[in-house]
Amino acid sequence: MKILIKDGRVVDPANKFDEVADIFVEDARIFKVAKNIKADADKIIEAQGKIVMPGLVDMHVHLREPGREDKETVCSGSRAALAGGITSVLAMPNTEPAIDSVEHLKILKEAIQKSAKNNVFICAAITKGRQGEALNDIASLKKSGAIALSDDGASIESDSVMLEALKAATKEEILVICHSEDKKLSNGGQVNSGFTSTRLGLRGVSSESEYKRIERDIDLAEKTGASIHIAHVSCKESVEIISKAKKRGVEVTCETAPHYFSFNDEAVLGYDTNFKMNPPLRSKEDVLAIRKGLADGTIDAIASDHAPHTENEKDIEFERAEFGVIGLETELAVSATELLGDCLLNWTKLAEKMALNPSRILGINKGTLSVGADADIIIVNPAKEWIVKKEKFLSKSRNSAFVGRTLKGFVEYTFYKGKVYKWNS
Ligand code: DOR
Ligand code: ZN
Repeated sequence: MKILIKDGRVVDPANKFDEVADIFVEDARIFKVAKNIKADADKIIEAQGKIVMPGLVDMHVHLREPGREDKETVCSGSRAALAGGITSVLAMPNTEPAIDSVEHLKILKEAIQKSAKNNVFICAAITKGRQGEALNDIASLKKSGAIALSDDGASIESDSVMLEALKAATKEEILVICHSEDKKLSNGGQVNSGFTSTRLGLRGVSSESEYKRIERDIDLAEKTGASIHIAHVSCKESVEIISKAKKRGVEVTCETAPHYFSFNDEAVLGYDTNFKMNPPLRSKEDVLAIRKGLADGTIDAIASDHAPHTENEKDIEFERAEFGVIGLETELAVSATELLGDCLLNWTKLAEKMALNPSRILGINKGTLSVGADADIIIVNPAKEWIVKKEKFLSKSRNSAFVGRTLKGFVEYTFYKGKVYKWNS
């Protein structure tokens, strides 16, 4: 199949390219990027006024398979991802069972082979059952296809286990993704500590529980020479600590999620569990620090932390509800609305944070429109406003913090493996 995308604004940070041009796709690969391409095509897409950019790479996604297929599956989650313009995801290992052995990894791999609609990469657990005690066989997990390690949902509490984990990961040259939470400090908290927790009468989660753990992990990474990536950064101090570490030359990268730059902790004052996540929404000052960290480059990536949960687990009393929100289908539009609108980022920077940087951090050959690359491409209408509707989600779960919001920027087409998907709002 030969496809010609005509006259779009092609945004490709890998090649420092941002110009109106055509893209010619042949056999699911990018064949040519130039102005006025004359070629015989089976399909022509007019993209005047549209942004043509690499398919997004979301490095923090909970697909829930195996074990919690009532929340999400590889099939439903990867299809939801495509609708959000995401052509590659990294699947997190806090499944049931956890991806902590070659045998469990094989179950996931089979599900991916059978039903994935986009590229699903695998993050394996660091410790047995994600209990933070016994290290998994990292060499075999890598050999079987894991491209990163994380106990996401939990941090490794023991300093010595984390040290051993980082040593082993360095030896195997595999990235460690850190969920940064000192459980002794977060202590069963439900929302950000301060005014919100006092007002709601709920136990608070301090910023300290996050940034103290980041400090420890950066310190251990510095000692071992490991590469670490800090997941879902939510507060000001974390941004400052990571910025300083980067300046010292520590191999550390980080991500935040759209909810942390869109809402502050006042959003939970109505006890709406669609604003309950871990880490929690933070103060106005933290939100500003996250935005600044994205603008100045301290925060490398935007990832959804797509965390689907069923209605039975969310539509209940606040303290009993699960932590987490879905995000695959809204993350590009939310990021465009929040960050372009405030002139913090431009489309090139957005493509960096949502496609190129995550690819580089994960060491995968994605996030670029280079000639010869897989034609993972999206076409975005930057001017289109749309309202997020619960019933429109392709995800199996509906626990979004953005339902009812008007967003500006809509993914109209996703190209993946030679197929072209057209989306309607
Ligand atoms: O809110 C969250 N939900 N934070 C996590 O770290 C895990 C995630 C989940 O798996 O539901
Ligand atoms: Zn996490």
